[in-house]
Amino acid sequence: MVLLAAAVCSKAGKAIISRQFVEMTRSRIEGLLAAFPKLMSSGKQHTFVETESVRYVYQPLEKLYILLITTKASNILEDLETLRLFARVIPEYCKNLEESDIVDQAFPLIFAFDEIVALGYRENVNLAQIRTFTEMDSHEEKVFQAVRQTQEKEAKEHMKLRARELAKQRHDKEKYGKPGGFGGSGGFGNSSRMDGPVIETTPAEPIKSAYTAPSRPSGTGKAMRLVGKKKDVDTFVGKLESEGETVATVGSEKMPAKITGTPIANQEGVHIAVEEKITLTAGRDGGLQNMEVLGIVKLKVNDEKYGRVVMGIANNDKKGMQFQTHPNIDKKKFTSNAIIGLKNPEKPFPSGQDVGVVKWRLQTTDESLMPLSINCWPNESGSKCEVNIEYELQQPGMELNDVLISIPVPSGVGAPVVGDCDGEYNYDNRKNILQWSLPVIDDSNKTGSMEFTISGHANDFFPINVSFVSKKSYCDIQVTEVKLLDDDQAVKYSSEVVFFVDKYEIV
Ligand SMILES: *[C@@H]1O[C@H](CO)[C@@H](O)[C@H](O)[C@H]1NC(C)=O
Ligand SMILES: *[C@@H]1O[C@H](CO)[C@@H](O)[C@H](O)[C@H]1NC(C)=O
Ligand SMILES: *[C@@H]1O[C@H](CO)[C@@H](O)[C@H](O)[C@H]1NC(C)=O
Ligand SMILES: *[C@@H]1O[C@H](CO)[C@@H](O)[C@H](O)[C@H]1NC(C)=O
Repeated sequence: MVLLAAAVCSKAGKAIISRQFVEMTRSRIEGLLAAFPKLMSSGKQHTFVETESVRYVYQPLEKLYILLITTKASNILEDLETLRLFARVIPEYCKNLEESDIVDQAFPLIFAFDEIVALGYRENVNLAQIRTFTEMDSHEEKVFQAVRQTQEKEAKEHMKLRARELAKQRHDKEKYGKPGGFGGSGGFGNSSRMDGPVIETTPAEPIKSAYTAPSRPSGTGKAMRLVGKKKDVDTFVGKLESEGETVATVGSEKMPAKITGTPIANQEGVHIAVEEKITLTAGRDGGLQNMEVLGIVKLKVNDEKYGRVVMGIANNDKKGMQFQTHPNIDKKKFTSNAIIGLKNPEKPFPSGQDVGVVKWRLQTTDESLMPLSINCWPNESGSKCEVNIEYELQQPGMELNDVLISIPVPSGVGAPVVGDCDGEYNYDNRKNILQWSLPVIDDSNKTGSMEFTISGHANDFFPINVSFVSKKSYCDIQVTEVKLLDDDQAVKYSSEVVFFVDKYEIV
């Protein structure tokens, strides 16, 4: 865990809002914030300061500070970039950067913070993923509890009032012989209306992600949400997008239509989706510049009687994934017994919505971990160029479907002349792309090649893009059983696995 907390505090170090991304007591965070102003060396334009245990990365916001508290192991450049995003969120909600404004907007701000950061480390601002986690947002719950307490308190007050009224009526009746009764002003129902945060109960709305939308039936189930939350988030995402920020909605355009999730009709009372996506950049002469695989297990309880389930998993990962459980998941059970279950069984999984319960991440430059290697050999001779391109499946047991390899070709020189070719090809003369498609690449069919000739130079044929989907998990995590927490009874569940490409480039 790298990012510990994000906070807005006064120049004196008084916490105005703070969102902790790891478990931390209130006094600990208040102590950290209070210590912060004393650590700053005056006059210097530093943007961070370190203590023995933590690093503060900060930025003044008029009379306030926005700061991130991170571990010292975290990458400072990333921290600064994350800080920049946090700083930009605040004016979205607070016109005057005043303490009172921040307090007024505390909830939307915290929601937005959560959008930026999931569980404490920076996610390249992939909001779609972060959102998966925020769906299990405990704030909604907290607000709901707060509102309910207010309601209960009001109701109690009202009862007292009523009791007094009745006593008085009884008294009056005794005195004057008038009948009592329950008429009169202030019906019970109306007294419980509240002025605090408004909670609305609406049918679950599909999230603005092409990927999750289909598995999220509109109109089924009731989902509690705060009025305006979704809208705020959407406008925030929209803004970032319009400013060219990388806000990847998981597989937006690139996501093949085929991978649309299991329709609700085919889902059992418990549905589990294992999703992984890969981002990769490799050099044309071999060498992996970077590869990142992000994965998540999403649980969806379709029938609320299965709100308290535990899942057994088989984690066959040998590639060194880093796993993280959702804060509401019992981490110990996960790491020692390979069981995904609630940390607090009193709080069942919400029904009708996807809840990210475990996620994982692998970042590597180890070529041997690539799913598919691509070798492209342009050979210039005169004005012509003969291009040989081949692929090889690197991971035994993997099965890639709908593989599409897109090779840019020079424009204005006519179509490439394709010689030997495994699979199919298609030349898009408008976009000047030669698309090579392979329905399946698996162990029985690991390699293939294509040859073509066209006028041009060796550099013309890069970057090559690759896309594919797979029904097998890259890190090989599997859900093996689902049981009820209370009586250990097996629960029938449906599941799906998808591994897909976010970006796969040979540059
Ligand atoms: C409750 O409030 C509504 C709207 O404010 C009003 O129309 C209704 O008459 C009230 N009911 C009672 C029992 O006071
Ligand atoms: C490149 O093309 C030339 C001429 O066509 C040929 O002689 C040579 O063998 C080719 N080189 C490779 C590596 O294919
Ligand atoms: C490869 O992907 C990048 C970014 O998505 C895009 O700009 C480029 O046009 C694509 N190239 C080909 C050959 O498809
Ligand atoms: C291997 O895959 C290629 C491309 O999908 C296909 O043309 C070829 O028939 C396959 N061969 C076998 C043995 O499946």
